[in-house]
Amino acid sequence: MLSINRIRAQPRAAKASPFSGMDFADPKRKNNFVGKILFVTVLTGLCILLLKQSPNFTSPSAGYILLGEEGKKYLIFRNVKSRPIDIRVNYKIFTEFSHQEPGVMHVLVTGGAGYIGSHAALRLLKDSYRVTIVDNLSRGNLGAIRVLQELFPEPGRLQFIYADLGDAKTVNKIFSENAFDAVMHFAAVAYVGESTLEPLRYYHNITSNTLLVLEAMARHGVTTLIYSSTCATYGEPEKMPITEVTPQVPINPYGKAKKMAEDMILDFSRNSNMAVMILRYFNVIGSDPEGRLGEAPRPELREHGRISGACFDAALGIIAGLKVKGTDYSTPDGTCIRDYIDVTDLVDAHVKALAKAKPRKVGIYNVGTGKGRSVKEFVEACKKATGREIKVEFLSRRPGDYAEVYSDPSKINRELNWTAQHTDLQVSLQTAWRWQQSHRNGYGPPLASAS
Ligand SMILES: NC(=O)c1ccc[n+]([C@@H]2O[C@H](COP(=O)([O-])OP(=O)(O)OC[C@H]3O[C@@H](n4cnc5c(N)ncnc54)[C@H](O)[C@@H]3O)[C@@H](O)[C@H]2O)c1
Ligand SMILES: *[C@@H]1O[C@H](CO)[C@@H](O)[C@H](O)[C@H]1NC(C)=O
Ligand SMILES: *[C@@H]1O[C@H](CO)[C@@H](O)[C@H](O)[C@H]1NC(C)=O
Ligand SMILES: *[C@@H]1O[C@H](CO)[C@@H](O)[C@H](O)[C@H]1NC(C)=O
Repeated sequence: MLSINRIRAQPRAAKASPFSGMDFADPKRKNNFVGKILFVTVLTGLCILLLKQSPNFTSPSAGYILLGEEGKKYLIFRNVKSRPIDIRVNYKIFTEFSHQEPGVMHVLVTGGAGYIGSHAALRLLKDSYRVTIVDNLSRGNLGAIRVLQELFPEPGRLQFIYADLGDAKTVNKIFSENAFDAVMHFAAVAYVGESTLEPLRYYHNITSNTLLVLEAMARHGVTTLIYSSTCATYGEPEKMPITEVTPQVPINPYGKAKKMAEDMILDFSRNSNMAVMILRYFNVIGSDPEGRLGEAPRPELREHGRISGACFDAALGIIAGLKVKGTDYSTPDGTCIRDYIDVTDLVDAHVKALAKAKPRKVGIYNVGTGKGRSVKEFVEACKKATGREIKVEFLSRRPGDYAEVYSDPSKINRELNWTAQHTDLQVSLQTAWRWQQSHRNGYGPPLASAS
């Protein structure tokens, strides 16, 4: 695996967190209880603030709150559970999403406040899709929704529903009130290390939530599903590159939960008219080339973070440097090799998959470049991209890491005419670095950009 470590910068920074896992990394979990409390507090505060300040506030009734100024009534902050923020400001807005419109495809993007989901929503909106984002902001950013809202202010384009996909009644309500044509299901928890420490959180929020989404789709006749899967479902294959028929033997709860979700989807699709596309991503990097969106995990999740986040943190001096574990693998430079894919290419694969999805057909595709890059190469690219010196400490191997993981993307090339057009390690990192630099605090405090 990615044998890299953060070197502790300040005494209060968490323990060294060696990279493991294919999309995400790291074992040692930081206690984020305080963070959670803080988040809930901030959320509650925000809600009160909104209630006080909203100029659009009309009459309190069931279920919704609107963010945005007068004349810009497009972003709906909806809380379906009866919490204090339950206010429906403008019912009319929902009618645009509750009816099908000829020629307009309405896509439900779960997890659309997250890193990949927000980039996917941006691309869909740019391509004139109608988008409903459902996210409970447990890991995503309202700031990302805000950016999308500002880019696509027209009514009927973008709707944000604040809801928990683990709540069956809520999910049903969302499906009954909205005319979806397709679902892109990104919402998940996605840190390999965390999954070994909190397996139930993974089976619950990946497997069980996917079941709820499937049930709602079945009940409401939504038949097209694009599912976010991962190369972690393959485990430690003996042969490289990984093709779609490489046996799936996941080795951690994250990979297993994703594999179980895939199995449920496939079993269900066999006896229905579902159009299913399962995309197994390799290591995702980069961000919007125009600098509108970026990757901004919560501070308390940084320690679980991925190699790009760690490199940027090292470049920014947030951590002192990187620890590369293992320089004697049987790879050209001795460090581990992984397959990095730019998020712009990844969302392009989603749009192509959506366009080619057919009832009663299943498509399963690896999404990678087919080219492995070593940890040393990655670090060099990161140094060039950031123009900063990054301190690297080379250590001995960590048990459980394997030398090489990379994809064979020929199936997706052939069947969806997709190739990675935007992935260039250094350029992708440069793009992400630019966003990181102009967003030192990510999208700001979790909910600040909403007020
Ligand atoms: N980033 C990678 O390298 C990578 C690689 C392979 C697969 N994936 C998959 O891609 C998808 C998106 O990953 P990401 O990197 O954008 O993660 P992310 O954490 O940035 O986004 C996930 C989003 O889902 C939301 N969410 C989680 N549980 C929810 C719930 N119960 N109800 C509503 N919303 C909920 C979170 O708030 C967050 O906004 C995941 O399914 C992940 O497994 C990611
Ligand atoms: C998000 O959903 C999870 C269940 O998947 C729930 O436990 C958590 O409390 C929710 N977070 C918020 C902020 O609503
Ligand atoms: C996931 O599920 C667990 C219950 O197993 C819950 O406590 C947690 O808050 C959920 N949500 C997230 C985002 O982890
Ligand atoms: C495949 O994609 C390329 C661009 O990536 C395009 O030029 C070409 O026309 C496409 N081919 C088909 C058959 O759609």
